[in-house]
Amino acid sequence: TDLDRIRNFSIVAHIDHGKSTLADRLIQLTGTVAERDMKDQLLDAMDIERERGITIKANSVRIDYPAKDGKTYVLNLIDTPGHVDFAYEVSRSMQAVEGSLLVVDASQGVEAQTLANVYQAIDADHEIVPVLNKIDLPAAEPERVKEQIEDVIGIDASDAVEISAKTGLGIPDVLEAIVQRLPAPQGDRDAPLKAMLVDSWYDPYLGVVVLIRVMDGVIKKGDQIKMMKTGATYKLDRLAVLKPAMVNIDELGPGEIGVFTASIKQVRDTKVGDTITHEKKPCAKALPGFKPSIPVVFCGLFPVDANDFEALRDAIEKLQLNDASFSAEMETSAALGFGFRCGFLGLLHLEVVRDRLEREYDLDLITTAPSVVFKIHMKDGEVIELHNPADMPDLTYVDHIEEPRIKATILVPDEYLGDVLKLCQDRRGIQQDLTYVGGRAMVVYDLPLAEVVFDFYDRLKSVTKGYASFDYQITEYREDYLVKMSILVNDEPVDALSIMVHRDRAEARGRAMCEKLKDLIPRHMFKIPIQAAIGGRVIARETLSAMRKDVTAKCYGGDASRKKKLLEKQKAGKKKMRQFGKVEIPQSAFIAALKMD
Ligand code: GTP
Repeated sequence: TDLDRIRNFSIVAHIDHGKSTLADRLIQLTGTVAERDMKDQLLDAMDIERERGITIKANSVRIDYPAKDGKTYVLNLIDTPGHVDFAYEVSRSMQAVEGSLLVVDASQGVEAQTLANVYQAIDADHEIVPVLNKIDLPAAEPERVKEQIEDVIGIDASDAVEISAKTGLGIPDVLEAIVQRLPAPQGDRDAPLKAMLVDSWYDPYLGVVVLIRVMDGVIKKGDQIKMMKTGATYKLDRLAVLKPAMVNIDELGPGEIGVFTASIKQVRDTKVGDTITHEKKPCAKALPGFKPSIPVVFCGLFPVDANDFEALRDAIEKLQLNDASFSAEMETSAALGFGFRCGFLGLLHLEVVRDRLEREYDLDLITTAPSVVFKIHMKDGEVIELHNPADMPDLTYVDHIEEPRIKATILVPDEYLGDVLKLCQDRRGIQQDLTYVGGRAMVVYDLPLAEVVFDFYDRLKSVTKGYASFDYQITEYREDYLVKMSILVNDEPVDALSIMVHRDRAEARGRAMCEKLKDLIPRHMFKIPIQAAIGGRVIARETLSAMRKDVTAKCYGGDASRKKKLLEKQKAGKKKMRQFGKVEIPQSAFIAALKMD
């Protein structure tokens, strides 16, 4: 395809502003998919994405569009995820295209994540076409939102395209704007092959599928290629474009986007951002790579039933085939037995992985408290990266502890501002900026990541009735007065409940956790002390009193089938419990105990 007949673009949008619906419409209107095959949200392949309505893996589609000028164009859309955890995926897909559609819900306006993503597009030198969606809604205020786009983002919104992705209104204008306003890609067909590895995923039938954008040269089926970073060489089995189903193609030239398979075993063997070239006639210089994704939130995953450990190991290995950004190392816990310490890009990522393990692999899991990576500076100069509070070294050897801090940007309607400031203040935040944009406040806070990973986002949503939007970036490691707090149940430490906490907040957190646990742990035949401690010192204590009368007495007499039913219920309930010394703790307690409210 001629370069001037190609347009490559991505769509930048806040969650729920209608990116997937618009993508579906573009695909539908150009007849890329037969009407009867059209499922809503075609690009969100995974079930979980569909259910949660979020886009996780970047994906791509090629659309043939006969434009008003009589020529047919090839439009390549690379889908980008909208959530902050997946920011690195956004940045990589931005490098592979020349322009972006900025989709803003005309009834909501610009949100924090829109800002973060649009700045990535600007950094990648994109031409940006603003698109105002949902103008069918009575609450839509296109003029106000245009002003806001100009004020907040600083791009010209005077010729923004007004659409309703739901009704289909304005979609043809979007297609024309892509052709007229976005630049064609550049590249040299005669130069040695230089292609960018944009993404890769594991397909159970095809093995690893690699998404590429060709910069220079031509790639053909059967070619012997080389990955410049890893040095690995492969022979292409198959070359295809995504429409969005795979359609085989003989070659891809400059500016084109497509996928190949080459008997690659693991996603790990394909480094996103790597440069692909021909083994025999390589290009002189590799493309600048992307920044790698580093896990920032860690937690333990343990099977409720210890017999499921091997099944969990298998499931984790399978998931990792497809998601190289999550890490897992075997871990043993005195309380929970064998499990894995897993690292994630953020909380949502953690939830998605845990959900998939439970659902797709039918496992019952205990998730321990999410923790960030603390840097422990030892007196002898050694620096330890602490992924698990249970591994905290003896304090006598510790000089000081550093924790990751973030810059958080929150956009919120005026009336909830007070609650948001209080929440940030309660979480050891330092206010850095407060401005007003289009009737809303934009607050910038410096916060400890540790205070955010647990339930900050939930709390933010609840105090603002869902009207706040939130985005963050890790800024630096900083020293603070941090300690490890342990929880003892019936005088036995439960390692899975230990947390790192600021010294000034330890008493309050400890008290809250003990009170919660008192409600979460069922009564036993004996009295159970529940304590929070720092080192050997108890800082909070509750006592769960003993069961007074024998409730099983109820089961005697009566009819046998009722008795049996009760026993079955008990058994099912027991499966969700873990034994700690003499005490049984329900699975749900591990997370619930940590919620702060
Ligand atoms: P993520 O995939 O999570 O990033 O969300 P998204 O931006 O792709 O949003 P999606 O397309 O899933 O749309 C979110 C919701 O808005 C859905 O319930 C859509 O049906 C609805 N929606 C999308 N476009 C329109 C529109 O033009 N008008 C109205 N009224 N609703 C719309």
